[in-house]
Amino acid sequence: MALELGMSRGRPLRLRAPVMIAAGCAGDATRLAGASWLADVGAVVTHSLTSRPDRSSTVARVHEAACGVLYDPAPSGPGLEATLDRAWRVWQTLPAPIIVSLAPESASELAAMLETCSSTPAVAAVEVNLDLLTEVADSRPASEAVRRLLEGLLILSTVPVFVKLAPGYGEVELAAIAAGAGADALVLGHGWPAARAQPRGGRLRDYRLGGPAIQPLTLAAVERLASICDLPLIACGGVCSGAAAGELLRSGARAVQVGSAQLRDPETAARVARELAAGAPLSD
Ligand SMILES: Cc1cc2nc3c(=O)[nH]c(=O)nc-3n(C[C@H](O)[C@H](O)[C@H](O)COP(=O)(O)O)c2cc1C
Repeated sequence: MALELGMSRGRPLRLRAPVMIAAGCAGDATRLAGASWLADVGAVVTHSLTSRPDRSSTVARVHEAACGVLYDPAPSGPGLEATLDRAWRVWQTLPAPIIVSLAPESASELAAMLETCSSTPAVAAVEVNLDLLTEVADSRPASEAVRRLLEGLLILSTVPVFVKLAPGYGEVELAAIAAGAGADALVLGHGWPAARAQPRGGRLRDYRLGGPAIQPLTLAAVERLASICDLPLIACGGVCSGAAAGELLRSGARAVQVGSAQLRDPETAARVARELAAGAPLSD
């Protein structure tokens, strides 16, 4: 069940199991030291790091919904350099590789971030989160902004580069751009666009919906993309069991990521990996 990604890079990534913990859902990865279950997980993705510190909040807003979890994952926190300074020694001791999620606002930021990660041995791969770009791109087609961000840069990385696509934002076109720019894998996706009424009749606020309710949506999106895209796909959205992961792998994904289910039980990804290895049956 081992999976190799980015074989042309200086430091390719070998996943022991095709199951990762999704961005922002492992908590502080430095606290994972001593978690024996981590040895069953393929990799852990950090929460998205910005180039500069943003101290507005370090915690994503999360609300339980009847059918899953509503979250607002605005990237925030001390930024890439400060996080690496604090965490790299611990990351090197963990039994699962650490993939750093990057949330760049511009091509120059991404170039510097890729250089930093490439020269940090504790970083096994990077995952580019296009969220900040999608926001600043409001007035022009997001695809053009993404093309300008990625073009010519991804090939500079010595570690594998994943690009995370949010469903509902033109993922087919963005997948082609990421593939052309040299990405090693695509992560699909990033929760589905959703909204939540604010208390006391306040306005609606934008969120993303994650959790078991979106697994069938992920399944359809992965199957569609797999039929037109040669890059390895990493399915993310609604994985809570080996059976759900197995369906996504059979529909064309090479690996899966477990997101909000980790909030309820931090060992979910490890359990999913064990169930898969044991040959999980299809869900009903
Ligand atoms: C609390 C929380 C924080 C998250 N933080 C990030 C983040 O920093 N970067 C990112 O790309 N995705 C983030 N996500 C999205 C997850 O990585 C994942 O794409 C999403 O939850 C869908 O997977 P799920 O259905 O398994 O929850 C976050 C999700 C949650 C619930």
